[in-house]
Amino acid sequence: MIDQLFKRDRLYEPVLLLFLWIILAGCQSLGETPLGDRLHFQKPVHFPEPSYTFRNNSVTEAGFQLGRALFFDPGLSRDGSVSCSSCHVQGHAFADTWLHPFSFGVEDRDGKRNAPPLFNLAFHREFFWDGGVTHLDFAPILAFESEIEMDLSFEEVVDRIRRHPKYPEKFREAFGIEEVAGPYVLHALSQFMVMMVSANTKYDHYINGDIQALNTVELEGLALFRRHCESCHQEPLFTDLSYRNNGVQARITDLGRELVTEVPQDRAKFKVPSLRNIEVTSPYMHNARFETLKQVLDHYTDGVEDQVNIDPLVFSDGRPTIQMSADDKEKVIAFLHTLTDHPFLSNPIFFNSND
Ligand code: HEC
Ligand code: HEC
Repeated sequence: MIDQLFKRDRLYEPVLLLFLWIILAGCQSLGETPLGDRLHFQKPVHFPEPSYTFRNNSVTEAGFQLGRALFFDPGLSRDGSVSCSSCHVQGHAFADTWLHPFSFGVEDRDGKRNAPPLFNLAFHREFFWDGGVTHLDFAPILAFESEIEMDLSFEEVVDRIRRHPKYPEKFREAFGIEEVAGPYVLHALSQFMVMMVSANTKYDHYINGDIQALNTVELEGLALFRRHCESCHQEPLFTDLSYRNNGVQARITDLGRELVTEVPQDRAKFKVPSLRNIEVTSPYMHNARFETLKQVLDHYTDGVEDQVNIDPLVFSDGRPTIQMSADDKEKVIAFLHTLTDHPFLSNPIFFNSND
């Protein structure tokens, strides 16, 4: 176990941080939250209980605003040019429209990966396409430290924040602390990210009792979706949070989940992505192979690669395919369009408020 941690040298660091985080988070939860807040996390009625550890880090207005300032701050990258928001863009549900080379210095991590959208993260237990990050608080460390992202050691990030003219005061307000410490930086970013709840779509209105919200074609699309897609893209999150191979790599160049578990049964499996806001998060798949939803649907009927660990659910009659007519596929796409959360995509609470 320890050997494995050392082998993945960059992943080892978050483990050390975990201990620091547990200690500090424990201290914080003893104190009172300094702010009476108007802003708080609310679970949509039809969602499962969140997995995020709110008991250690409950959302306050000051913490959220601080997280937002950090999220938009390019000053936290080596050359001052990249912020989280460079790759996670609100109008695209905090996804991006292009591919990023991705490597954390782990030798066999060879793939290029598409930046996933950010929403409903409080309901996820693991993060990244391969689930290699096991707590939301740790995701930013990898982004900061990645040479092709922000390329700044986390220590240096914290140091820059300490020397910043405004941040120390904001940390005092948000967390009641005298000196900025790493875990609080992560807590602030998480407070911003867990508030990205997306549950205000035509589909949600329908589920919550407005039976007029979906038209006939969209309802037919929903029925087809439930027959062919639901077993992996499970409602209401539109992911069952499992790892599967749906056959999108012509040749396996990214080992996916195997990079984390080191078992060959996990080769080429990736976390089932949510399909909420899918209309605005093109390109699709971890490797950004498809540009349109039509191409995705054509993949499921005609393009599935029959390879190691291919999921039985994308097989029918002994062939690698989900059987749907052209008409069925159009209806499924019409349904997928009802998953776009317009109020979320333009919600001003997520706008950049830095000067
Ligand atoms: C250069 C582009 C880029 C930048 C800058 C960036 N990210 Fe990401 N982000 C990605 C990519 C690509 C992934 C997927 C990585 C993977 O699966 O291996 C990702 C994954 C994530 C995830 C996991 C999402 C999920 O569903 O699993 C979170 C959370 C996240 N980033 C937050 C941040 C934060 C916070 C920052 C700023 C500190 C940031 N990112 C900066 C590209 C970027
Ligand atoms: C066996 C489980 C499974 C089934 C069944 C399945 N999917 Fe997927 N889907 C996945 C996985 C896994 C991915 C991510 C694959 C990757 O990037 O390597 C994915 C990715 C997608 C994406 C791209 C999402 C993104 O953010 O890039 C779309 C769109 C999609 N599926 C739609 C559908 C539709 C529509 C159906 C039904 C016709 C369906 N899927 C059936 C497992 C499944």
